[in-house]
Parts: sequence; structure tokens; C-alpha cells
Amino acid sequence: MCTRFRFCASLLFPQAASTCVRNNASKQQERVQGTNDSSVVSKVSAAAQGYFHDDFLKHFVCKVSRRAPLINRGYYVRWKAVDHCLKQFFHATQSCSRRQILSLGAGFDSLYFRLHAEGALGGVTVFEVDFPEVARLILSNPAFYAVFIRSGHYNLIGVDVRKEQEVEVTLSGAGLQWDAPTLVLSEVVLTYMETQWSDAVIGWAAKLLPQSVFVMYEQIHPDDPFGRVMQNHFLKLNSTIHALKQYPDTVTQTQRFIQKGWEKCVCLDMNQFYFDLLLEDERQRVEGLEPFDEFEEWNQKCSHYFILTASKDSVVEVHVLFSLLVSSIPHMTPQWAERPTLVIQPMCGSPSIEAVGMASAVLAPGIILLTGGCGRSGRDTTARVLIKEKDGWKCACVEAHGDKGDLISGAVLFGGRTSPLNPTDSVGCVTFDPGNEQSQSAVKLSFRNMVCTGTGPKPRWRHTSTLICYKDKTFLFVFGGRTEKDPVLADAHFLCLEDKHWTEMTVVGAVPEARHSHSACPYGGGLVIFGGLGKGSRPLCDAFYLRPTSSGFCWETKNLHPPPVPRYSHSAHVINEKLVVVGGVWLQADGVPGVAVINLSTGSCVEIQLDTSSVPWPLMLHSFCCELLDSEGSEMVLIGGGGNCFSFGTHLNLHPITVDLRPVLCNSY
Ligand SMILES: C[S@@+](CC[C@H](N)C(=O)[O-])C[C@H]1O[C@@H](n2cnc3c(N)ncnc32)[C@H](O)[C@@H]1O
Ligand SMILES: *[C@@H]1O[C@H](CO)[C@@H](O)[C@H](O)[C@H]1NC(C)=O
Ligand SMILES: *[C@@H]1O[C@H](CO)[C@@H](O)[C@H](O)[C@H]1NC(C)=O
Ligand SMILES: *[C@@H]1O[C@H](CO)[C@@H](O)[C@H](O)[C@H]1NC(C)=O
Ligand SMILES: *[C@@H]1O[C@H](CO)[C@@H](O)[C@H](O)[C@H]1NC(C)=O
Repeated sequence: MCTRFRFCASLLFPQAASTCVRNNASKQQERVQGTNDSSVVSKVSAAAQGYFHDDFLKHFVCKVSRRAPLINRGYYVRWKAVDHCLKQFFHATQSCSRRQILSLGAGFDSLYFRLHAEGALGGVTVFEVDFPEVARLILSNPAFYAVFIRSGHYNLIGVDVRKEQEVEVTLSGAGLQWDAPTLVLSEVVLTYMETQWSDAVIGWAAKLLPQSVFVMYEQIHPDDPFGRVMQNHFLKLNSTIHALKQYPDTVTQTQRFIQKGWEKCVCLDMNQFYFDLLLEDERQRVEGLEPFDEFEEWNQKCSHYFILTASKDSVVEVHVLFSLLVSSIPHMTPQWAERPTLVIQPMCGSPSIEAVGMASAVLAPGIILLTGGCGRSGRDTTARVLIKEKDGWKCACVEAHGDKGDLISGAVLFGGRTSPLNPTDSVGCVTFDPGNEQSQSAVKLSFRNMVCTGTGPKPRWRHTSTLICYKDKTFLFVFGGRTEKDPVLADAHFLCLEDKHWTEMTVVGAVPEARHSHSACPYGGGLVIFGGLGKGSRPLCDAFYLRPTSSGFCWETKNLHPPPVPRYSHSAHVINEKLVVVGGVWLQADGVPGVAVINLSTGSCVEIQLDTSSVPWPLMLHSFCCELLDSEGSEMVLIGGGGNCFSFGTHLNLHPITVDLRPVLCNSY
């Protein structure tokens, strides 16, 4: 068996035939194991948390570290997509006597070993290719070495995949049979070479392997805010991602493979893969592994990666790999209005406010209260006010003052969380003293907990609380949200502020389905609910009017046409019978949401693009606050927002910005 090892090793390194075994293994191993910023560490972390099973990856790292749930999920979905294609290929070719996997840029992948250990390989021969230097490093790992020697179906080959002729000679020499059914795998590899080269690889694979299926996983959507952060990350690492400039989405990637000689091609982004190719049981298993609250970041990560399979006229049909009948999250084209566009304006002289998940309220004209949220230094407990002054805006931190003044003149806070395991059901009230007109820096706020009677809602977050007036009383209406146990809620509660009592109210009509991260705006004596993230973490696009009646309230469903693209984590306001929905996260359309304008009388709906060219940084409109400063909509202020961009770093919007909505409000859509 050792003979076989030497044979392979010398054959496989055409440029450095005999150096691989004799090199000082411990030093190289250090380098292998020093890749703690690489995907291997994250895959090891995900495996350790139970996302998938892999006993071999851990041999490539010094110690198993625990990554954030978002990272674990991100690597899980990548691992699962590749695994799905492999298993489907094995199934489709089970009657073939000779089958092969050719993994391009395999790096420190454990594919062969884990498949072998699972007993899934069934005689499939694996060829892993990487640069000669990388292949040599892999060979120097003792754990690897031990397993390697025992295997008869494993080949590690050091060659530059851009060099077609060298590839052909080396792989032939290693025993690859060009006409046997072969799965060619490229997991984040081709994107690191210039597009002419990745195109060439896709081309030679189609030409040299007539019975093959190509499986590729890499990035897309480089130009939206998340995509810009993603690109910058790779630029900083000196590993520019290339092909996505020319092939920015699933459609162009598909066309690319057809142009390079493949006959059929299916390309899904990872949201589509997750929702449409994983069984509900598996999604529930994965979603239950760790406390998780990064929905926006997770969906955005998934919309920036794809899994593609392309086939020749072969034993393996692409549709076999992705046996997808009807998508449950079909791709949509937003109904963009030709004009006008809404123009984002930097806020004159505005302070820097970098935080996500704050709550806001307008306390008085030009005075916005911001509470809670999470900034660069963690959760923020102090409240802030943004104050509009003659020469611009300023931000003041506020101190708690003595308890005085009229309850209703400030703001009421309900719920929220510290960790996702620790939500609250407390009701806080903020009273406000505008102080001296000349110097608004003297704004005084007092905070206190409100002790309420009656049965209140259970602790929650990502709900809405909205003030409505009914029969001369003021109610805080709480709807939806989630708890540490309930992924979505549909219960509604009324807190009478004058009585400090959670009041039973008669509500008839069809209750909106359970959701969180939706919007609720006062409207017509009641309120209107829009969108959110529903059961199974699917975004919603429905609207409901909670209409006051003589005996309570009645839910009425609003029919919207054309249906807007489902979204969540947006903000909304009603201005003159129009529901104006700003930002949010969607999965089913390219780009990011701008402003949806819904005519509440007719249900007609139009999407307006936001012109963000005046903002030099990527503007991420989710987990943000949004307040209107006047009833005409001439000044809407957007504050905070952003989030973790997977492993590319955290991006928080730098400054508040404003939008003048009047161009879309005077249009009779
Ligand atoms: C980001 S890693 C991915 C490794 C592995 N496919 C995975 O998913 O874990 C990219 C790998 O491609 C290899 N690679 C890049 N360009 C290559 C080329 N022209 N020829 C061979 N390997 C290449 C790199 O050495 C590196 O190991
Ligand atoms: C390998 O390198 C280590 C540390 O650099 C050194 O201690 C060791 O003696 C070297 N081994 C051989 C066989 O050269
Ligand atoms: C690896 O992790 C250590 C400790 O966390 C850190 O000091 C080092 O810079 C990291 N190396 C790389 C290459 O990221
Ligand atoms: C990227 O390359 C530049 C220029 O060659 C160099 O100065 C810089 O240190 C490199 N950055 C990293 C992270 O390797
Ligand atoms: C709603 O649409 C109707 C019919 O097109 C139109 O007459 C009305 O002005 C619109 N409402 C608003 C607030 O624009």
C-alpha cells in the first residue's frame, strides 16, 4: 500500500516530484492548521454543533472553536447543498460500474474521508485537485496520511486547473477515465480566478467529460448593499472574487454554462435550496440546534450564494439532482414604477448613530426618542434623543429624571429582549419635558416601569406595539412577535393606558397568521398590519385592517394587487390613505426593497426605487427605525440598521438619512 502512495505522490506533482514526503511536516502542518480564518474552522464548528456529521475535518484544525449560529448555519447550508448533489449523483449512477468525483480546488476538504466513513462512496473513485503547494501541505498532515494510505479510491493531484493540457495529462496519468460518469465539483474555487480562466475550466470540463455533471457553489449579487460588503471583504484579503461581475445572478450563471458547452443547467440561490430542497423536518432540526435571531443576515447570506448543476447529455440528468416541482418561494419581478425615484438625502449635520434593533418614537415635532438596540460595543441600555435644530441635527443621551408629568405625553415601550433566551414583558413609560425652547439640550425624560393589571402578553420581541384611540381611551395594541419557544405568534392584546389594565376586547374576523418583524400602523381608528416573517420563516406580503366597530374590532383582509414581493424587517407609515412600506428584507426578487406604496382604498400597489447615490456607504434598510416628521411626508428620517454580513464583517449604517416622500404621495396610484 505504501507503494501506491509513493506512486501517486510522485506522479501527482509534476513540478516537484519528490519533495512532498520529505518536507518537514510539522512546519507545514502549522500552516495548514493556521488557517483558522478559513472555511474549515467554520465547518468544524458547525459539525461540532450537530449541523452535519464529519469526523475528519477536525484533523485540519488545532482546536475546535465555536462560531456564531449565523456562521454555523451558513456553512451548514453550503455543506448540505454539496452533499445533496453528491447523494443524488450516487443514486442516479448506482448501476454504473465506474463512477468518479473530480473535486477542483478541493483545499482541505474532507469529502472523500467522510463519504468513505459513511459508506456512501460505493466504489466511486475520488480525484481531488489543488495547486501543487496546497496538495503537498495536505499530504503533510499525519491524520490525513494515515487514512490516505489505507484507501484505494483516493487520488490527490497537484495541478493548476487553469492549464487544460496539464490537467488532461496529469489526470489521465492518475487513472481518471474521461468517459465514465463523473461529478465535477467546484466549491468556491472558480470565483478566485479571472473570469477568462473560470470560463475556460467550465469549457474544458464540458469538452473532456461527456458523461459528467458540474456542481458549483459560489457567490452572486455583488452590487446590492450586502454584495458590496462581501466584495470589499475579499478585496481586503487580496482574493478578489471575479466572475460575479460578468455573471451577477442565477440567470446569467445558467446562460454561462450553456454557452460553455453544457446542455442543461439548474441554478438555485441558497434560500431556494433551503426552502425547496430540504424537508421540513430537516429545517426544523437545524433551526432548533441553537438560539437564533439573525434572520435578516441569514436570508441575505443565502441570497448571495448559489448551488448550480449542469449536465451533458448523460446518465445524470440535472433535474434528477434538483427534483424540484414547484418552488414554494417563486422568484418575482417587483412592479417597479418607472418614475419617480425617491432620493435619499444625507441628514444635514447629523450625528453618527450605528445600531440595529432600536425602538423609536416621535416625542414632539423634531424630537425623536431612540431606545435599546445593539451597537458596536454591544447592547445599549441608555436612551438617546435626536433633536432637529436650526443648523442641523444633534444627538443627546438622556438621563433618567424624577417621575413627574402626564403619562400620555411621552412614549410607551413594551417587550424586547436581551439574549434570544431572555425576552421581557415589561411595560415602560417615558415622559417628556421639552424644556426651554432656546436650549433643547435641556430635554428631560423620565423612565419608569408601568405596573399593569389583567392578563398581559407573554414576554416577546420582534412584535409591534401601536397606540390607538377607541371610545375616548388610549390603547397600546400588541400583536405578533416571537418568544424563546414560539417561533411566531398571532395573539393580540390591548393595554388601556388610562386604566393600566390589559383589557379583553372583542375582535372578530379572520386573524392574520402568526408572524414577527411585521409592521403595524395606526389607520382609520384601528391599524393596518403588513408583511413580516411567518411560519417556517417565510416572508409574507399580506395586509390586514383592524377596523373599529361598535362592540370592539374586526380584522379585514386587504387584497393587494399586484401582490408586493413578500418582505419583513421593514418600516411602514400611513399617509393620506396610503401605506408606505420602507426597506426590509426579501428573498424572492433581486436587489433590495425600496419603498412600496399601497393605496389602502383600492389595494393597488407599486414599488418605488430608492436612489442612494448620495450615500457613500452601503445602506442596509433592515433592523432600522423610521419616523415621519410631518403629516405630508416631506421628511421621513431613517435611523440605524444593518447587521452582520456573514463572515464578511459587521456593517452598520453610519448616519441617519432622510427621504422626501411627496413625489410618490401626490401620484394617484
Ligand atoms: C476557498 S478554497 C475552497 C476549498 C474547498 N473547495 C472547500 O470548499 O472547502 C479554494 C481552493 O481552490 C484552490 N485553487 C484556486 N485556484 C486554483 C487553481 N487555479 N488550480 C488549482 N486549485 C486552485 C485554492 O488553492 C484553494 O484551496
Ligand atoms: C522540523 O521543524 C521543526 C521546527 O521548525 C524542528 O524542530 C524539527 O527538528 C524539524 N524536523 C526535521 C525532521 O527536520
Ligand atoms: C488565529 O486565531 C488566533 C487566536 O484566535 C489569532 O491570534 C490569529 O491571528 C488567527 N490567525 C489567523 C490567520 O486568522
Ligand atoms: C494585499 O496586497 C497588498 C499589495 O500587494 C499588500 O500591501 C497588502 O498587505 C496585502 N494584504 C493582505 C491582507 O494580504
Ligand atoms: C387610490 O386609487 C384611486 C383609484 O385609482 C384614486 O382615485 C385615489 O386617489 C388613490 N388614493 C390615493 C390616496 O392616492
